[in-house]
Amino acid sequence: MADLQLDEPEPEVADDGVWLTCIECGETFAPFEGIRYTCDSCGGLLEVRYADLPTFEDFDSAAIADGVWRYDAALPFEEGVSLPEGGTPLHDVPRLEDDLGVERLRIKHEGMNPTGSFKDRGMTVGVRVAEKVGVDRLACASTGNTSAALSAYGARADLETLVLLPAGKVAAGKIAQASLHGARILEVDGNFDRCLDIVQDLADRGEAYLLNSLNPFRLEGQKTIGLEILEQFHAEEGAYPDRIVLPVGNAGNTAALYKAFRELVESGALDESDVPKLTGVQAAGSAPMVEAIEEGWEGIERWEDVETIATAIRIGNPVNAPKALPGIRETGGTAVAVSDEEITAAQRDLAGEGVGVEPASAASVAGLRKLRHEGVIEADEQVVCLTTGHLLKDPDAAAAAGSEPEPVPDETDAVLDHLAE
Ligand code: F0G
Repeated sequence: MADLQLDEPEPEVADDGVWLTCIECGETFAPFEGIRYTCDSCGGLLEVRYADLPTFEDFDSAAIADGVWRYDAALPFEEGVSLPEGGTPLHDVPRLEDDLGVERLRIKHEGMNPTGSFKDRGMTVGVRVAEKVGVDRLACASTGNTSAALSAYGARADLETLVLLPAGKVAAGKIAQASLHGARILEVDGNFDRCLDIVQDLADRGEAYLLNSLNPFRLEGQKTIGLEILEQFHAEEGAYPDRIVLPVGNAGNTAALYKAFRELVESGALDESDVPKLTGVQAAGSAPMVEAIEEGWEGIERWEDVETIATAIRIGNPVNAPKALPGIRETGGTAVAVSDEEITAAQRDLAGEGVGVEPASAASVAGLRKLRHEGVIEADEQVVCLTTGHLLKDPDAAAAAGSEPEPVPDETDAVLDHLAE
């Protein structure tokens, strides 16, 4: 990890040891004064920086089950708008582990968060920042889960919430969540990337506070996925995982996990050689990050036409690519594209061990199978796959991938006859 770049002196704009730094030009900004999502000077992505970086001892006093705010030493303040979130299980899946032929396989199931996806970890921090800077309307573009989480956390904070969704491309469970939590749902005649273009315009015009992962505070909350994985895996296996395989859409999680590990390395809590290899998986129909990794490009090229059954990651312009590509490269990871058939097969594999996930989540396991088959991932590796959303998010995909209901008469003997057929 050559370019840690976290050791800059505390600038005057810092507030309680916290500030924002542009990852492109290095300009620094006060964290909670004024509203900005990108650098005023060059438009680069911003990152939250700290005068004091955490060690594992800082987290000792609380249990994993306490969730995101157990990690307040790694976050910009001590308390968020909380439902509460985090503290998700790290499942073992012995049959799948055996089948895939890796030494150890664990599933970090982020579908077990309050609104059923990892987005809650970002919103507990991001919506608190919205309160701090004093806005009255929140907004996001979304393939579904961000909108579900923002709607719930916005409701909790009693703030108006606006969500822009690609019409006809969001799973039923997610729309139902945004609807019942009381968001205004705008269905855009265009894909997710267009929705995000529009929300950025609205934010630039001061019409709403943007809570997509372009907002650097969202990623601070999502760092806790990485912190939990390290602590849980180490507690059970006595070592850190060699590799973390995760689905990639806007590449926020890839960026967030990388930042969590960089901060631990910088504080001396984690040896550089113990940083897991970040391995991103995209659907073949929307794989600009995989293309950039395979071609060795500095940045991604936006895909205008994207399609996949994994609608959560149906994204052609991953806005966090400048943070995530170094994460994949510097940790020695890679990126791989999988077909919709491979995604559905992996969804069935996980369900077969009791772990119910939505299609995008299963992409991580599909990617592991492919990379194992290609010999990129070795048999002696200890691997964690991240599953990002719950099965019930997309009931139509689950029903299509699962068994058919069988009609039977309302008589026990007829039921037995049917079973004997
Ligand atoms: N998995 C699920 C279930 C998601 O909902 C998303 C992103 C991802 C993976 C990709 O994560 O962006 O950090 O690379 N969903 C966003 C949304 C885009 O609007 O809900 P990422």
